[in-house]
Amino acid sequence: MQYRRMPIEIEAPEWIGYEHIECNLSESSFADQRLSDLGISVDDLVLFYGHHRGTPGLRACIAAEAMLQADDILITAGAASALFIVATSLLQKGDHLVVQKPNYGTNIETPLAIGANISFLQLQFDDAFRLDVNELEQRITPQTKLVSLTYPHNPTGVSIDETTLHQLIAVIEKHNVFLLLDETYREMTFTTKLPVAASLSDKVISVSSMSKAYGLAGIRIGWIACKNKALMEIFLAAKEQIFITNSVLDEAVAYQYLQKKDVLFTPVKEKILENFRIMKTFMQQQDVLEWVEPDGGCVCFPRVRKEIDMDMQVFHDLLLTTHKTYLGRGHWFDEDPRFVRIGYGWETPEKLSKGLRNIVAVVEALQK
Ligand SMILES: Cc1ncc(COP(=O)(O)O)c(C=O)c1O
Repeated sequence: MQYRRMPIEIEAPEWIGYEHIECNLSESSFADQRLSDLGISVDDLVLFYGHHRGTPGLRACIAAEAMLQADDILITAGAASALFIVATSLLQKGDHLVVQKPNYGTNIETPLAIGANISFLQLQFDDAFRLDVNELEQRITPQTKLVSLTYPHNPTGVSIDETTLHQLIAVIEKHNVFLLLDETYREMTFTTKLPVAASLSDKVISVSSMSKAYGLAGIRIGWIACKNKALMEIFLAAKEQIFITNSVLDEAVAYQYLQKKDVLFTPVKEKILENFRIMKTFMQQQDVLEWVEPDGGCVCFPRVRKEIDMDMQVFHDLLLTTHKTYLGRGHWFDEDPRFVRIGYGWETPEKLSKGLRNIVAVVEALQK
């Protein structure tokens, strides 16, 4: 493995220092939650290793929502470790895979660290970041092991419909390759939620997490869902070699949260939608940025209009130093610097609105 740090981690807000950021539009989740606000108690917990696949109750909860069995679920340390387990289990140096781009960094970086050969499926702004299933199929070769996609997508927030999901699965089954579907943002879908893709075929591996929709990134709980028993044994072996089990504390918090998800998540979803409306209104009322409207999640990937001549590094520096506003940067996703990722689900409506106004103010200042 050849590891290197990803720009998105090097420039993460925790490295910038939260004291320097007032309007944090760089986050890709709902606001971090406080344990005492959730009514969750872990006082009686026995601090043992825990179950290797994850607490049975927690797995049953996740499986029920996914139309799967508890044994089809493996608890991991966030979706990040799930993606790592899947990539290192399925790929070796020289293996071929198809990965959507842009994408959440790990989906690209871990296959690269393994030395796998990636064919990118580039989503285009001018094509509304649409997935072209025919183009995807053309990228598959007899050497291809894996196709890796994310929906709802990070950083664009676009999604696919159920018909497209079925077409995708037909393609990967026809070519006998695995599909890794990163479904970390599934709960934050604005329209009808897609089925958990792993419930539709044993060639599909779904990955998800408690971090984004619920604002529980600090408990580091994610999971792999897959009906393929042989594959799940390999994933379990990988998990046992990396961290044996998850923290029982983390699992207990996740379990209790999911047991009362209806009560806890309903207001969260309303807040995300309220912020989405603010984002949408802002986009209609300004002429600095153009975007593809997201279908879900809590991030979007607009770009600075081509008429605006501006050094993007100067723009980001000024935005941070004079307006304490922080955005995701195009180069985090290896895209043109004119793209910015705006996370609209994390801040309060007031701070979100202020941060968005600051973007326009800085662009106007730089145009003078
Ligand atoms: C698409 C996607 N997958 C996975 C992750 C990893 O999340 P976590 O490990 O916190 O569950 C992220 C985090 O930004 C993400 O955006």
